[in-house]
Amino acid sequence: MSNHNIAGVIGSGTMGRGIAQIAATAGWQVVVYDNNTAAIEDSKSKLQKVLNRLVEKGKIDSSKQSNILNNITYASEIKGLADCSLVIEAIVENPEIKRSVFEELDRNVSKECIIASNTSSLSIASLASAVSIPERFIGIHFFNPVPLMKLAEIIPGIQTSQETTQTAKSIIDSWGKLTVMAKDTPGFIVNRVARPFYGEALRIYDEGIADMPTIDWAMKEIGGFRMGPFELMDFIGNDINYTVTETVFNAFFGDPRYRPSFTQKRMMEAGLLGRKTGKGYYDYSEGSQKPEPDTDEMHGHMIVDRIVAMLINEAADALHFGIASRDDIDIAMTTGVNYPKGLLKWADEIGIDRCVSLLDNLFNRYHEERYRCSPLLRDMVTEHSNFYQEESVNS
Ligand SMILES: NC(=O)c1ccc[n+]([C@@H]2O[C@H](COP(=O)([O-])OP(=O)(O)OC[C@H]3O[C@@H](n4cnc5c(N)ncnc54)[C@H](O)[C@@H]3O)[C@@H](O)[C@H]2O)c1
Repeated sequence: MSNHNIAGVIGSGTMGRGIAQIAATAGWQVVVYDNNTAAIEDSKSKLQKVLNRLVEKGKIDSSKQSNILNNITYASEIKGLADCSLVIEAIVENPEIKRSVFEELDRNVSKECIIASNTSSLSIASLASAVSIPERFIGIHFFNPVPLMKLAEIIPGIQTSQETTQTAKSIIDSWGKLTVMAKDTPGFIVNRVARPFYGEALRIYDEGIADMPTIDWAMKEIGGFRMGPFELMDFIGNDINYTVTETVFNAFFGDPRYRPSFTQKRMMEAGLLGRKTGKGYYDYSEGSQKPEPDTDEMHGHMIVDRIVAMLINEAADALHFGIASRDDIDIAMTTGVNYPKGLLKWADEIGIDRCVSLLDNLFNRYHEERYRCSPLLRDMVTEHSNFYQEESVNS
């Protein structure tokens, strides 16, 4: 018999712990299953610390803290998830291991239980085919750290039923997340549309157009981004960021638009991963000074225009191919990676014709597929339309 307010989480790591926290905060009973008992102990103490900090800051009181903790139980066997109505998997990003865990889970939960994966890069269709009723399988992609990041991408696979999609969406909404719907394509919304933020910055650096501090300065000071691309890659880790890029590139059958950079690959190979290793594009050791940027405004604008035009192109193409709606694409980028503006809204502000000419200039210069302009943007110029107003801009 499944209970409507019991959620299961598989994997007690970074993501699983955050998912358990938000579900328990929303009043759900949560069972966290992990096959590593040391990981469970570590997760418990980390959660305790996070909640202690929330109490210290006055965000929750101590009775709320005990409620949250009491709502969460831990299991070292998968059968502990038997009574759940929704199970979200957040274990290692390995398709074989995930599929075998889903096969086992399938035998241990009721037929009504919704089974979800928090995968960042695997197709939902491929994981759904591991369970006996793929109609009840769905992707629910949270962002790190889960309690702080508002966004969750909901990704039905081609087998997922509408009922599963609606139920999953309304549960995650009720946990306080902003949900967006995404098609089951590589990188979903955020990890696809954000690629040029890193890729084009690396390309500008590789061509010797600007150095890293200058690109970071321009993107923050002129572009309004919270972090520059190189600072952000160092923060995420060059291993993780490179792997996402390479995975998206391969998943798009080698589309040159997503081609990774040798510069970043070498950083990963050298173990210069960023903050976590003390050195990446920048040196994080004690007393080290960050190199000064060249703060020439015109040069800065050129850098921002180029990267933002590539981001807009990616967002427009995602809309063109029905990956997500206009609003969901803009919400995803402002809440999943904290962009200062929705990219499609930004395109309207810059002017669609200007976006197209920025992209065409790049294409004419390099003759590379990477710089092909989305047919949607081109059509919009012909039609004098923009993303947020149906009526003609020139009338
Ligand atoms: N970390 C992120 O920023 C992020 C963001 C979005 C999505 N994701 C996705 O979330 C998933 C988990 O990532 P993470 O960073 O939390 O990983 P993590 O390494 O922090 O935690 C994974 C946990 O899964 C457990 N585990 C491994 N194999 C298991 C098995 N067979 N059965 C039960 N438990 C098992 C491990 O003991 C570990 O505690 C991955 O699919 C990842 O792609 C991660």
